[in-house]
Amino acid sequence: MEKITAVILAAGKGTRMMSDKTKVLHEVSGKPMISHVIDACLEAGVRDIVIIAGANFQELKKFAGKAYPGMDIKFAIQKKQLGTAHAVSAALNSKIHFNKAVLILSGDVPMITPETIKAMIREFTKSSPGGIICTSTVAEPFGYGRIVKNGKGHIIRIVEEKDATAAEKGIREINSGIYIFEAKNLKKHIKSVGLNPVKKEYYLTDIAGIMAENDVIIRPLTVDYAETAGINDRVQLMEANKLKNKKTLEKLAKNGITIADFDTVIIDGNVSIGRDTVINPFTVIHGKTRIGRGCVIGPFAHIRAETVIGDFCKIGNYVEIKKSVIGSHTNVAHLSYIGDAGIGNNVNIGAGTITCNYDGVNKNRTIIGNNVFVGSDTKFVAPVKIGDDTVIAAGSVITEDVPAGALGIARARQVNKEKWKQNRRKK
Ligand code: UD1
Ligand code: MG
Repeated sequence: MEKITAVILAAGKGTRMMSDKTKVLHEVSGKPMISHVIDACLEAGVRDIVIIAGANFQELKKFAGKAYPGMDIKFAIQKKQLGTAHAVSAALNSKIHFNKAVLILSGDVPMITPETIKAMIREFTKSSPGGIICTSTVAEPFGYGRIVKNGKGHIIRIVEEKDATAAEKGIREINSGIYIFEAKNLKKHIKSVGLNPVKKEYYLTDIAGIMAENDVIIRPLTVDYAETAGINDRVQLMEANKLKNKKTLEKLAKNGITIADFDTVIIDGNVSIGRDTVINPFTVIHGKTRIGRGCVIGPFAHIRAETVIGDFCKIGNYVEIKKSVIGSHTNVAHLSYIGDAGIGNNVNIGAGTITCNYDGVNKNRTIIGNNVFVGSDTKFVAPVKIGDDTVIAAGSVITEDVPAGALGIARARQVNKEKWKQNRRKK
């Protein structure tokens, strides 16, 4: 297999997003779009990665440091955003070492799979053309570059929407913006790309025509549009999220998880769930959350990042859980907020229980042992520790630790004033 350098285009302004945040950091399925692209490269075995950044360099550098610590992701800077060819040139002209083949991806095409990258590399290695371009045939090609081929099926030109004639606009095979080129061919021919008079940009897509004129063969690799959909605005972002979510839910369903309603359940791609767990409608599960087997997650449950839930738990309706570990056979069945907590096995958390984790400055932890019964409407004012085999009386505001085996009550004693109504009338 050829050694490959991946170049991810990410310097664009992303004007159509109407956002203060750089486009490629907008999230699909709980993960920045560019992370999907990087992860697909890594899974396909491509480890030499160059990101092309512009004014968003600091933003992207910070992201890469946090999301990929210890990984040597390189950056090339494109000072002015003068188009995709100009962007690739910025990387080629930098001091970065390039392997024999260059895989070019777009940071705004996040659905690309490692399988497709592997297929591209395989095809490139096997038939050794000058380049491979991923294409899809779609019903609505508007906005994409259109693929023009010769009788042999080789790509001889790509026409951008703005430059296309009426006949060319009718072409439904589109450029995905994902390519492999031989480094030496790319370096040579990218120099011939001229400024597009309409958009005043250097189009990478012009290289197809230039290479073809120089007898360099470029083959298409047809992939499903679900993988090549580009995100330029928030409508497309919404559609991509919907598509990705559907894929995630289908994968979970095939692994033995019941999802009651595909349209209202949202689960991030990194969530893992054990078999025979049931996820009820209007439930949202985020982050690297793990849920065991045989659990029932109720309707309107909101399970946030860094949550671990054991086996055979019941998380009921209107329950929010954040950054907490919950043991097995534990129920949080109704109307609760559990944040920054560690809860043991066989615990029953009564309706309306809340961990008061935030004191206005710091987040504090609530630790609850095994075999604990927490009465309804309890407030745990963290930091607080509840021992094993304890009972907490309903309506308690627990501000102090409760030792193992104890009953904790923290509420005003009830007073009944006999004949109160009768006496009031007499006054
Ligand atoms: C591009 C392709 C189009 C293809 C589509 C697929 C060109 C000229 N057109 O169009 O054929 O169908 O992608 O989604 O390449 N970028 C830079 N520097 C720049 C300009 C862009 O790094 O100067 C980056 C952007 O951040 C983005 C990617 O390149 O990640 C693509 O740019 P974008 O403006 O989205 O191109 P499209 O109009 O989508
Ligand atoms: Mg785009």
